[in-house]
Amino acid sequence: MKALITGASSGIGRDMARYLSQKGCNLVIVARRQNLLEELKKDLKTNIEIEVMDVSKEENIYHLFQKHQDIDILINNAGFGKFGEFVEIDIETEINMINTNIVAVQMLTKLYLQEMVKKNRGYILNVASIAGLLPRRTFNGNLLCK
Ligand SMILES: NC(=O)c1ccc[n+]([C@@H]2O[C@H](COP(=O)([O-])OP(=O)(O)OC[C@H]3O[C@@H](n4cnc5c(N)ncnc54)[C@H](OP(=O)(O)O)[C@@H]3O)[C@@H](O)[C@H]2O)c1
Repeated sequence: MKALITGASSGIGRDMARYLSQKGCNLVIVARRQNLLEELKKDLKTNIEIEVMDVSKEENIYHLFQKHQDIDILINNAGFGKFGEFVEIDIETEINMINTNIVAVQMLTKLYLQEMVKKNRGYILNVASIAGLLPRRTFNGNLLCK
């Protein structure tokens, strides 16, 4: 089995990479911080391919898919949150968040699912946050409306 994990340089993605490799999976690990991906690769025993890229860029997603077609497990994990007052957060950060947390997930899921349906096998795990469903004004402990 071969798994592609976005956001494998730290946190949940790195732990999933370790787990799947221990189970015998070969991996494609994706993130921007090359040094962390290389450190992870050194620790793992299965075949590990590194893709250093920013998944918020559409062209990178197409490149990733074209280069790695033989994927049995896709884990869409790369993402981040920005907390604070909506009116104060800059629009570039928000667009970057939408491209990373939503557009990249949509594209990778579509591209790989089409292949998986043709092969009649495969798994996709989308890592999300319940924070996205909470109608809070802020997420910094100040839960009361002013
Ligand atoms: N930790 C929590 O409590 C929690 C709760 C709910 C949901 N989540 C979700 O779980 C996922 C992992 O979170 P985590 O806590 O493990 O966070 P983390 O340690 O900050 O890891 C995020 C990973 O995503 C990668 N990443 C972020 N933006 C990227 C981009 N534009 N292109 C490529 N890679 C990118 C980071 O790698 P580079 O910086 O090297 O690119 C890193 O490997 C996220 O989607 C997060 O929203 C986390």
